[in-house]
Amino acid sequence: MEIKNSQITIVGPGRVGTHIASLVRKAGWSIQSIIGRTQASIAHIKHEIGHVNLETFDLVAGYRDILLLTVSDSVIASVCEALAEKGLIHSNTVIIHTSGASNSRVLEAAIDRQASVASLHPLQTFPSRQAPFADLAGTYWFFEGGHRARDVASHIVSSLGGHFHVLKPEQKIAYHLSATIACNSMNAILEASLRCSDLAGIHRDEMQRAIRPLMQSTLDSMLLDSPTASLTGPVSRGDLTTVESHVTELSRLPEVRDIYIPLANFLLEMADNSGRVDCDTYKKFSDFFNEFLVANRKNMLENQ
Ligand SMILES: NC(=O)c1ccc[n+]([C@@H]2O[C@H](COP(=O)([O-])OP(=O)(O)OC[C@H]3O[C@@H](n4cnc5c(N)ncnc54)[C@H](OP(=O)(O)O)[C@@H]3O)[C@@H](O)[C@H]2O)c1
Repeated sequence: MEIKNSQITIVGPGRVGTHIASLVRKAGWSIQSIIGRTQASIAHIKHEIGHVNLETFDLVAGYRDILLLTVSDSVIASVCEALAEKGLIHSNTVIIHTSGASNSRVLEAAIDRQASVASLHPLQTFPSRQAPFADLAGTYWFFEGGHRARDVASHIVSSLGGHFHVLKPEQKIAYHLSATIACNSMNAILEASLRCSDLAGIHRDEMQRAIRPLMQSTLDSMLLDSPTASLTGPVSRGDLTTVESHVTELSRLPEVRDIYIPLANFLLEMADNSGRVDCDTYKKFSDFFNEFLVANRKNMLENQ
């Protein structure tokens, strides 16, 4: 298969599928078609990216060079099987899914037909199906899979101005954990922060605007240096009185207290590892946190 003359078929015009379809087309790739569940589910993509050949699963036929599966994680295997049964996959096909958590072995039906299989995960967030689409230049793409698929995937990534990184199948779950914690936990952290400012009676919109420079400079300094080196706040200063007053106030927000204490305990470990707190301070904090952590564990066991 000559990569530069190959056509891409995108299966699953959701958030990732719509973005990738738009961007690969702009990068000069030929899109053979976009396959969706129903007419309704592919209608939006016409609106978003203009003229493109659209197909629904029930009517698809004919062999494909490159299949990019951007369907939900839980249906990758069954969608691959359905496409194989319809004759879209044979030994020259390259089939790639975009899940961060699953590896390429989930594409079992394609492996059975000697196709080259892979997973290619963009380390980016795609919150919506609507344009304007994020420019993926500079994005890191984590690949795992076969040799032919690797050539295709690296061409696609370089045409989008991205960085290509290869993983082994067994590295994928830990890699995806890293991405998930860095991305989704920030949503939880900001929500917890805003519940505290709700408690203070500060309007959410105002607090979101106010907290932006603080969050951005924290992120910048953490990423420029390291999370441990750029650590500030009461735990790293050994200020137990402030932490105690936080925990007392959080009796009004028990769901936030339940994440504040384990996080503060983790910060204590980071401060200790970098020699920021002395033994006495470490012990005082540790005893204080443990009292809550043990009580919480007991509560959980009693409620099971
Ligand atoms: N969103 C992100 O930030 C992000 C980032 C990196 C990687 N990913 C990965 O990219 C993949 C797609 O994620 P997404 O966020 O784009 O999901 P999404 O917006 O929910 O889109 C999923 C697509 O799969 C289709 N689909 C779902 N069930 C199906 C079924 N049973 N048969 C056929 N098609 C089905 C949906 O059809 P309808 O159009 O009919 O709903 C939709 O087109 C996932 O593997 C995800 O882990 C996501």
